[in-house]
Amino acid sequence: MPIQFDAENRVFKLDSASTSYLLQIGPFDYLLHLYYGAKIPDTDLGYLAYTCRHASVCPRVTMDEPYFSKDLHRMEYSCNGCGDFRGSALSILRASGTADTDIKYVSHRISRGKPRLPGQPATYAAEDEADTLELLCRDEVSGAEVTLFYTVFANHGAMTRHTVVRNASEQPMELQRVMSTCVDFHDARDMDFIHLWGNWGRERTPERAPLLHGTQSVASKRGCSSHAHNPFVALCSHDATEESGDAYGFHLVYSGNFLASAEMDSDGGARVLLGINPEGFLWRLEPGESFCTPEAVMVYSDQGLGGMSRILHRLYRNNLCRGPWKNRERPILVNNWEATYFDFDEKKLYELAKTAADLGIEMLVMDDGWFGARNSERAGLGDWYVNENKLRGGLGRLTERINALGLKFGIWFEPEMVSRDSELFRRHPDWALQAPGRQMSIARHQYVLDMSRADVRDYLFGCMKQVLDHANIAYVKWDFNRSLTEVGSALLEAGRQQEVFHRYVLGLYELLERLLTAYPDLLLEGCASGGGRFDPAMLYYSPQIWTSDDTDAIERLDIQYGTSLCYPVSSMGAHVSACPNHQVRRTTPLKTRGDVALSGTFGYELDLGKLTDEEKEEVRRQCADYHKYYNVIHNGDLYRLISPWKDRARCAWSFVSPDRREALVTYVVMRGGVYERHYLRLCGLDPTLRYRVESSGQVLSGAALMNAGLCIPENLRDFTSRIIHLKAVD
Ligand code: DGJ
Repeated sequence: MPIQFDAENRVFKLDSASTSYLLQIGPFDYLLHLYYGAKIPDTDLGYLAYTCRHASVCPRVTMDEPYFSKDLHRMEYSCNGCGDFRGSALSILRASGTADTDIKYVSHRISRGKPRLPGQPATYAAEDEADTLELLCRDEVSGAEVTLFYTVFANHGAMTRHTVVRNASEQPMELQRVMSTCVDFHDARDMDFIHLWGNWGRERTPERAPLLHGTQSVASKRGCSSHAHNPFVALCSHDATEESGDAYGFHLVYSGNFLASAEMDSDGGARVLLGINPEGFLWRLEPGESFCTPEAVMVYSDQGLGGMSRILHRLYRNNLCRGPWKNRERPILVNNWEATYFDFDEKKLYELAKTAADLGIEMLVMDDGWFGARNSERAGLGDWYVNENKLRGGLGRLTERINALGLKFGIWFEPEMVSRDSELFRRHPDWALQAPGRQMSIARHQYVLDMSRADVRDYLFGCMKQVLDHANIAYVKWDFNRSLTEVGSALLEAGRQQEVFHRYVLGLYELLERLLTAYPDLLLEGCASGGGRFDPAMLYYSPQIWTSDDTDAIERLDIQYGTSLCYPVSSMGAHVSACPNHQVRRTTPLKTRGDVALSGTFGYELDLGKLTDEEKEEVRRQCADYHKYYNVIHNGDLYRLISPWKDRARCAWSFVSPDRREALVTYVVMRGGVYERHYLRLCGLDPTLRYRVESSGQVLSGAALMNAGLCIPENLRDFTSRIIHLKAVD
């Protein structure tokens, strides 16, 4: 049984494929956290809930029970203001004006499968893939009913959590803070905190530091998950490497403001909290109303950070991405953005498509600039009708001609935005987010539409439908190019304005869902000035996301390597672009650009007509490689072999097929050395199998390849790369 209740010890034990998670109904029916980590058989772990400190100053529930204090125990879902002084998972502002919150266990339910989260993206599972525990708790004084949901997966070392709060009282109440998960580690003294920081063009750089006393946290209050921080943190043992040691990952399935924190207390324990950022959030619940948090994904691996990543990758590929594109081979695309920027017409696009078809590329994506008066970033967003001065003959004619070349057609939208200079803004200024009396901040000459409004969403859906119904469009790139400011909605009363950030995100999900329901075959690619909204929630709608606007192959080593900490390569948009590179002016070989982009959802973003014949041959080869290696790259396990940050000289990673009979290694030289021979130790192979190295014909055992290493040719120049393919011979 993956979920057991030991009635004698009043302990719940939740087992995923490789982890155990235990909690207990403690004194006064408070829920205590006992354990999270490698799978264990025991349930009687009550000793872990208590810290050794018994200071008399710590508040007791009653002096008749002197050993129980919420300040001294590992709490399962911490509440505000009643004696637990660490970070709170839940804080409810009562009608009394006080925010004291205190929940106790009432009942539980164990069921097969996994419930959906109403109106929100989440991982999903068939009945035989997962089991769910629901713990109903109650705050007797406020009348809040709090249900904690836990799902454990039978095939992954992963579990998920979310929380539902229902106002079962007669009075309104306000949620100040309601986190998706709270985990109290009983001993975190040898742990590191890892997070992914970034910026435009520099997304998701891992940073690792020892957990210190006090709180370490990352957050967003930009209205999107953001370039600056990802809604992901990991805790790992000090000695954890890529392939060994304890590693825990915590990831929020949410595209808006989040907070992820780890707080080490004076007893050496640590509390992890993950959920909607309480700053800018206050949610009113009328009697009978409920609030459901986003889902938190939690994974543990004893095989280091690589093991942690692989669990997340498998979970996201199989139980988060959905629809026909989940398993279908993604088309190789050419996007005209870096080829033309705004300066294009139907002739240029057709020429680009013609060359693309000749080279083996399968889809043309028409990026920004095809609509309204959009000839620069200054105007046009919101006016989603085709600019027929640019696309003479209209979109239908263009797509027909492109389809006739054997190419699919894709199109760009930025639905959530409106240009100040647009018909839409002139007609509906109140449709943009704004705060009464305050000047609206402007970014990229645009404002943000109020996605919490149904009329705004209806308008956007109607515009997209008009385009999608009149041309054969296989793909939509959904862009989002600025953060939210002056966040107020013209339709909501003052007492609900603090709900707008979250209502915006729910509105976004609703529109995405509506689009996919109406066009189930559509392939969506998420985008936000590159990878500014690369999060698991977006993966639920768009199985691929544009990773970064920085397309330089060497920069991409850092970006893709960091992104792979929690996202599968099948989700990372990666394109070959022109040289000198438009973002960093670096010149790299076309082969290297192709090899790096191959570890992602592959495509091109340059004027193919400018390539020499020799370069065109290279592109044909790359397209053939994409098909040849698709399966091992997209469905295989990723092993990060040399970090680009190690000595800034080399970077390497590999994919191993699930049956371990095939592997593909990518090796990139960032800074070459003189006669430097390198032996690259592979990972994840079957030590008992013998593998043939395709390029050299050499046959070596998995054991030799993993322990002695694969010999990498000497004297590789700066920015050159190798792709090495291995197949089992037995
Ligand atoms: C930002 C995206 O990241 C780019 O790829 C491109 O689509 C531009 N927006 C278009 O404005």
